[in-house]
Amino acid sequence: MEYLIGVDLGTSGTKTVLFDTDGAVVASKIVEYPLYQERNGWAEQDPLDWWNAAAETIRAVVSESGVDPAAIRGLGISGQMHGLVMLDGEGNVLRRSIIWCDQRTAKECDEITARVGKERLIEITANPALTGFTASKILWVRNNEPEIYAKCAHILLPKDYVRYMLTGDFATEVSDASGMQLLDVPHRCWSAEVLEKLEIDPALLPKVFESPEVTGVVSEAAAKRTGLLPGTPVVGGAGDNAAAAVGTGVVTDGTAFTTIGTSGVVFAHTSDISIDPKGRVHTFCCAVPGAWHVMGVTQGAGLSLKWFRDNFCGAEKETAASMDVDPYYLMDKEAEQVPIGCNRLLYLPYLMGERTPHLDPDCRGAFIGLSAMHTKRDLLRAVMEGVTFSQRGSLEILRGMGVSVDTMLACGGGGTSKLWRQMLADTFACPVRTVASKEGPALGVAILAGVGAGIYPSVEEGCARVIRLNDPQPPIAENIPVYEKYYRLYTQLYPALKDSYKALAAL
Ligand code: XUL
Repeated sequence: MEYLIGVDLGTSGTKTVLFDTDGAVVASKIVEYPLYQERNGWAEQDPLDWWNAAAETIRAVVSESGVDPAAIRGLGISGQMHGLVMLDGEGNVLRRSIIWCDQRTAKECDEITARVGKERLIEITANPALTGFTASKILWVRNNEPEIYAKCAHILLPKDYVRYMLTGDFATEVSDASGMQLLDVPHRCWSAEVLEKLEIDPALLPKVFESPEVTGVVSEAAAKRTGLLPGTPVVGGAGDNAAAAVGTGVVTDGTAFTTIGTSGVVFAHTSDISIDPKGRVHTFCCAVPGAWHVMGVTQGAGLSLKWFRDNFCGAEKETAASMDVDPYYLMDKEAEQVPIGCNRLLYLPYLMGERTPHLDPDCRGAFIGLSAMHTKRDLLRAVMEGVTFSQRGSLEILRGMGVSVDTMLACGGGGTSKLWRQMLADTFACPVRTVASKEGPALGVAILAGVGAGIYPSVEEGCARVIRLNDPQPPIAENIPVYEKYYRLYTQLYPALKDSYKALAAL
């Protein structure tokens, strides 16, 4: 028997899964770590927490499974995208990582647009300057912490720091690199033009690979720490969404998925590059060599529900613990008792600003229509509906760009909720499917590792061997027009509040 490992470096924790080559889970382990939010709109994590979590979870799955490490043919890493890791010449971390949902870099985005030019930036990087992306974070450190910038010898993305600790190599791959705003996305290489205009030394950046390529092998030191054999191949892996696409079989035209993790994404595969000239959705290289994906991002999707759970659902948490179920399961049961539209209550999920379709770091969450008759349940369901409406907005843009979507998969934490999947089906007016495996990104990068190790001839063939689809969950016909009315109202709220958000941010 042969095995593959997928490491999924998320925002709340790292999950490592050991799979057999048919995609069955042999062992799995999660370790969580903190998110530091010292100011409104800031978000940082400690890269050493990521490495410790990766090393500990790899060691756990290897030892708990009893599998012979020699039978582990390869490892892939999926990572939260965009985070900035800066290392000195000895490979020491220089500061905490400024991660994807941090919104401090509005000024640096203006600087990027001024230096490169708005249209040229979209032509090359396929995206307008965005606060979440890595380039503006690099400029922020240069502008605000010049002493740290002066010591910086290597810039890495979160998962690529874990790769460095595993193999000693400075490497990345095209899907995650697409979110740095330094990659020439159509040509899948660093953009000399953007680097020159931003005055960033190309020597700071890692070598770029395609996602299934082997970038290096596990070092002696990392082998001691993890229980893997030295020499175990590590492949490029992928950014979390590109990895989830492989793990749900979204690797051919016409396939798409919606996910609700901390952020929420609507993602469609495309073998022809397609760029939104208005920059409202991202076009990135995908993990299938030579193909791309287009995706819209809701910054605060699962984050909204987690915020609600942690601040208002203490009782549900206690009951869930005593019943040994997930608090979200009980929260679903409560939300199910509320009618569509939550008795005329709408929620805007902008807890960490918004990307698609508004690209606004200053907007913040809101409940609109609160009445004395509303209860916690109404608010809870409104949070779920607001996130779903935001995702509908992403889908509308993809449809408008002519990216075809025949099959919509639901994945991530939210995808496990039958209620949320029904909301998606009714709001998107299309059937929603799930895949049998719940391991999305971890399975995706394990498949990439299998391609790198020569077990599967290609990403598509690896998916065909491993991914099984469940039956579709169709929309409920009478719900579609009801959600539609609320969605239309939802789309009118951001424009009405936009100026107030700016004023609030300036206070
Ligand atoms: C994608 C994005 C998020 C992060 C965190 O552009 O910012 O999906 O990768 O999950």
